[in-house]
Amino acid sequence: MAGPDPVSVLHCDGLSVGWPGHAPVLRDLSFRLAPGEHVGLVGPNGAGKTSLFHTIAGVLPAHAGSVQVQGRAVVPGQFRPETALVFQQAEDQLFCPTLIEDVTFGPRNLGLTEAETTARVQAALAQCGLTGLEDRPVHHLSGGEKRRACIAGALVMQPDLMLLDEPSAALDLRQRRRLIALLQGMDQALLVASHDLELVLELCPRVIVIDQGRICADGPARRVLGDAGLMAAHGQEVPHSLTPHHGVGHVHVRNSL
Ligand SMILES: Nc1ncnc2c1ncn2[C@@H]1O[C@H](COP(=O)(O)OP(=O)(O)OP(=O)(O)O)[C@@H](O)[C@H]1O
Ligand SMILES: [Mg+2]
Repeated sequence: MAGPDPVSVLHCDGLSVGWPGHAPVLRDLSFRLAPGEHVGLVGPNGAGKTSLFHTIAGVLPAHAGSVQVQGRAVVPGQFRPETALVFQQAEDQLFCPTLIEDVTFGPRNLGLTEAETTARVQAALAQCGLTGLEDRPVHHLSGGEKRRACIAGALVMQPDLMLLDEPSAALDLRQRRRLIALLQGMDQALLVASHDLELVLELCPRVIVIDQGRICADGPARRVLGDAGLMAAHGQEVPHSLTPHHGVGHVHVRNSL
């Protein structure tokens, strides 16, 4: 097991992830994220992206190995304001009656003044295009609005590490573009699990591919996502923007899945 790592914002060492009573989903993962690093997490359905996020966030205890955030071991159930998780299913995250109550819930535990809390909440709502919907019951928000409410609930904590699980799911093109611009401008470390490989390519200079319980690739995004053999072997396609184009009305050569 690794000693304290004061340099990395996230350090997983020999980490095995799984659900109680089941065999591990992921085994012996070791990787680090530097402060401010933006990393994509890619893998087929069921590869273990969400499970890994739950373990890093301290919701799901590790089967083996260790996770450190900002040099301190993650202890299941312990509140770690340095880490914010944007859930894949918005309904799993939003639980207060109204939007404003939901986004205000986290900062209330940070010991801020009322004025600081209000300023942070208003800024996060504005960043996510939700100003004006403060009093809306969360179950009356649209799918995309719920997704943006979850992102606002994470941003408002001003974490050092954001775990974003399918952040562009349910967003229309304009909101997806706004999200990319917002996340690109963030100096926090981001780990972004997504099947939207174009988003990953725009946001993340580095990509980790997981499949069949292990890390299959960890390297520069254009090299990893542009490797047709690797992508096909793990149920992925090379993103359109990395596919060679010839002439007008071109034909794409796609790998068969
Ligand atoms: N609460 C749970 N109890 C038991 N097994 C679970 C639970 N949640 C997920 N799993 C299993 O863990 C494995 C990994 O699931 P996980 O949700 O982490 O995959 P994923 O990579 O996030 O997939 P997707 O791309 O579909 O979101 C799957 O086999 C899934 O069935
Ligand atoms: Mg998932």
